[in-house]
Amino acid sequence: MYFFANWKMYLTASQEAMLLGQIKATLTIPSQVSLALFPTALSLTHAMNLYKGTRTAIGIQNISWVPRGAYTGAISALQVADIGIQYALVGHSERRHIFQEKNDAVRKKMEACFDAKITPVLCVGETSADREEGKSDYRLKKQLHKALKDITIPEHMPLFIAYEPVWAIGTGQACDPAEVEHIALRIREEVQQMHENVEMYILYGGSVKPQNVVSYTALANIDGVLVGGASTMYDNMAAMMNILANTH
Ligand code: PGA
Repeated sequence: MYFFANWKMYLTASQEAMLLGQIKATLTIPSQVSLALFPTALSLTHAMNLYKGTRTAIGIQNISWVPRGAYTGAISALQVADIGIQYALVGHSERRHIFQEKNDAVRKKMEACFDAKITPVLCVGETSADREEGKSDYRLKKQLHKALKDITIPEHMPLFIAYEPVWAIGTGQACDPAEVEHIALRIREEVQQMHENVEMYILYGGSVKPQNVVSYTALANIDGVLVGGASTMYDNMAAMMNILANTH
């Protein structure tokens, strides 16, 4: 199973360096867990050097959709591929809602990742308003179609989809596992209709913590978790690894 740790903008570079060092030196990662860390862009080079030759992968939280040029403040998939970065989050709800990234930007970022051979982690999820208006299905379908319909996925590249209901992110209000399972299956079926033979992994994200992590990783249609806040604290990481080691 996959455990992706999204550190967002929670830590300074020196705090990230400390956590990266601590995880490398003392965290016991169960053999069935594939860990990927998504620190800020400030720490990517350091993380790559530190984790070279280990099982832990490094990802970037956001990329631009063009490979190079006059784009002040941007970092491209091509540039991070060059330092060995394996993953990029694409369409995280904080990018969609705080930074106004629309579905067409998400689509271009997916293409940029595939061009650079970086594995994108496509994040989708409904808002609480969508939910109240009975539009959850519509929202998810639209996000999936805009990002994936007729896109060319490079051979041997897996497709990662993170289902992250917006109302569950950073709120402590995690989604009910039975509902996650139901939606994950819908996502799987929807994507399979567009890309029949793709190797697909579906993650759940939104207030995952030691107390609930197994209720998601145990689901038949969930292949892992995308963890924000709880992954920025070593003790919580250690607790989650410990629980996963003992339950899978
Ligand atoms: P959270 O964030 O675990 O802090 O809710 C999850 C995410 O946004 O990926």
